[in-house]
Amino acid sequence: MKNFDIPLRMRRLRANTGIRAMLKETQLVPAQLIQPIFVTEGETPEAVASMPGVERLPIPLLVEKCRELVSLGVYGVALFPKTPDEKKTPDGREATNPDCLICRAIRAVKAAVPECVIFADIALDPYTTHGHDGVINAAGTDVDNDASVEILCRMAVENARAGADFVAPSDMMDGRIAAIREALDAAGLTQTGILAYSAKFASAFYGPFRDAVGSKKNAPNKVTGLTKKTYQLAPANRREAIREALADEAECADMVMVKPAGVYLDVIRDVRENTLLPLAAYQVSGEYAQIQAAAQLGWLDLKACRDESLLAIRRAGADLILTYFAEAYARDWQNSGE
Ligand code: PBG
Repeated sequence: MKNFDIPLRMRRLRANTGIRAMLKETQLVPAQLIQPIFVTEGETPEAVASMPGVERLPIPLLVEKCRELVSLGVYGVALFPKTPDEKKTPDGREATNPDCLICRAIRAVKAAVPECVIFADIALDPYTTHGHDGVINAAGTDVDNDASVEILCRMAVENARAGADFVAPSDMMDGRIAAIREALDAAGLTQTGILAYSAKFASAFYGPFRDAVGSKKNAPNKVTGLTKKTYQLAPANRREAIREALADEAECADMVMVKPAGVYLDVIRDVRENTLLPLAAYQVSGEYAQIQAAAQLGWLDLKACRDESLLAIRRAGADLILTYFAEAYARDWQNSGE
């Protein structure tokens, strides 16, 4: 058969494994991943029902996990506590206790695995009885911005003293980055960095995480109608997300973040094009659960969808990805060519 007159043949560049590997435009290496880990006061690991493969770990097992991750090339971990109910209060004061679960966890990891880069989440939701990220005003009508920032500053200083490399405010209060920077510097913690959860959307994809840390109550409060929408971004808003990132940069954030990742790839690209700071994106619990659930039903290929979803986040412009798949990706990575 005579060939058609098609001089431009794109398939030449896709012909075999070698050429495809050579021309891969986006790479994802384990060092670009941050593993979020839930920590428990309990003595044994606790499964999280809505997140297959994820367990809350007691401190000794957390330390072993961090050692393992570093040996796999994953240096970053983001730690989240499951605070026992009896330690929760309306003002979340346990968050500022230098001996709280997360401060003990940070000290233990830093002592045993100093190469591990620890990101300490700064927000009150694991510590408050109502599950909000800050404290509620006297009238019960709103999360009090400045009162919350004051507590978050103290929390950040304690986490940094315990040895966190970065504090990562995920609360979305106004002005918290500048206030935390000032508090850290005043305490002599000038080397502790800030990863700002800058563009954090009021997302339904956080559902499984709220199971994991037990902050479920932040469903709209029945009496006041108080929801996280008064501080987290509206999913419809691109420009506002960029403004948040620029504001955090101006307040001296060392890195900024977009969260969730997979349904906000356009925002990742927008922020990438508007700042020179390192950019992180958080593939959140619901994004993880979606892929896991479909794979369990035999409807999707777990590894292929995992890798494609992570690569897409890198392609959109993220330097770093927080993902519950970090360890599994790093284990498989050694052998992956294309
Ligand atoms: C809150 C916080 C949330 C997540 C990280 N920090 C949830 C929320 O705002 O309720 C979600 C992470 C995930 O879903 O994986 N400080």
